[in-house]
Amino acid sequence: MAHTRGMRSKLFVPGSRPELFDKALRGDADALSFDLEDSVSEGRKADARAALQALLSGPSIRACGKTLIARVNPCSSVHFNADVRAVVRPGLALLNLPKVESTSEVLAAVTALEAAERANGVTEPVGLLLNIESARGLRLAYELACAHPRVAGLPLGLGDLFEPLQIARHEPAAVHAVMVQMRLAAGEAGVFAYDAAYARFTDAEGFRAEADVARRLGYIGKSCIHPSQVQLANEAFRPTDAEIAHARRVAEADADAQARGVGAYTVDGQMVDAPFVHRARAVLATAKRLGLG
Ligand code: COA
Ligand code: MG
Repeated sequence: MAHTRGMRSKLFVPGSRPELFDKALRGDADALSFDLEDSVSEGRKADARAALQALLSGPSIRACGKTLIARVNPCSSVHFNADVRAVVRPGLALLNLPKVESTSEVLAAVTALEAAERANGVTEPVGLLLNIESARGLRLAYELACAHPRVAGLPLGLGDLFEPLQIARHEPAAVHAVMVQMRLAAGEAGVFAYDAAYARFTDAEGFRAEADVARRLGYIGKSCIHPSQVQLANEAFRPTDAEIAHARRVAEADADAQARGVGAYTVDGQMVDAPFVHRARAVLATAKRLGLG
């Protein structure tokens, strides 16, 4: 499946607004998520689908170097099969399923996805992103993530999760609790966790604060709904220079400790053993992928 670990930012682009496509493709987002679901009104679903089919079938789309994602309507909707057939094209990395609540939905989506891959000459398997955006989805997040090896990651959806329950979207304790719960489910299933969109796009401070929490919890990036959020996410989800330097010292100390047959030792005034070395290697791999040394 496509490489998605370097996905600090993922910009949503409504399929019904083709005038935004070019701007999105020229921008700095690591990934683009073309949307057929909540950002497209019921009356515009067919137009949006046709616009995305044209875009994703076009000759130039793959040259953009971004991770390409399409969010389709829910499996249970009348739009689902037509959506999947339209957007599963060579170059699509990930298919994003909204409002997932059962493993049977995931398996049905895989069947539709495989059929579309065969029909449209897609040879690189497309991965799945399962939105966790309901109380039930959150409770079942681990089972959903394990339902099929195509599942690559779990994006969190806080608008859909909180609004019907009348939980305040900007209640930090609630956001934190949900983030931890989903992160542990994703970690147990071996897929990545992806942070939620932030609707108040003029509030850069708020976006940054939420992204920082997500990163400290091991999320790999944050959804963006406006181009002004992309740079904030790209900054938040890169390891800091201090973290990279520390990771390098841990890796060096580990090589030395291995040679001496020592398992636990001190780096920068703190104990290091196997799990810390594992993390340091992950930080260095991320830094390398981002061209940070
Ligand atoms: N992708 C690409 N370009 C975008 C964009 C997006 N998601 N959102 C805004 N832009 C562009 C605008 O076209 C405008 O370009 P211009 O300066 O060349 O005219 C510029 O960025 C500034 O946009 P602005 O005028 O502030 O926004 P808007 O009022 O046109 O739209 C939103 C605001 C929130 C409606 C719009 O950003 C949007 O639809 N976002 C995505 C929503 C979505 O997909 N939601 C579902 C997932 S939660
Ligand atoms: Mg939604």
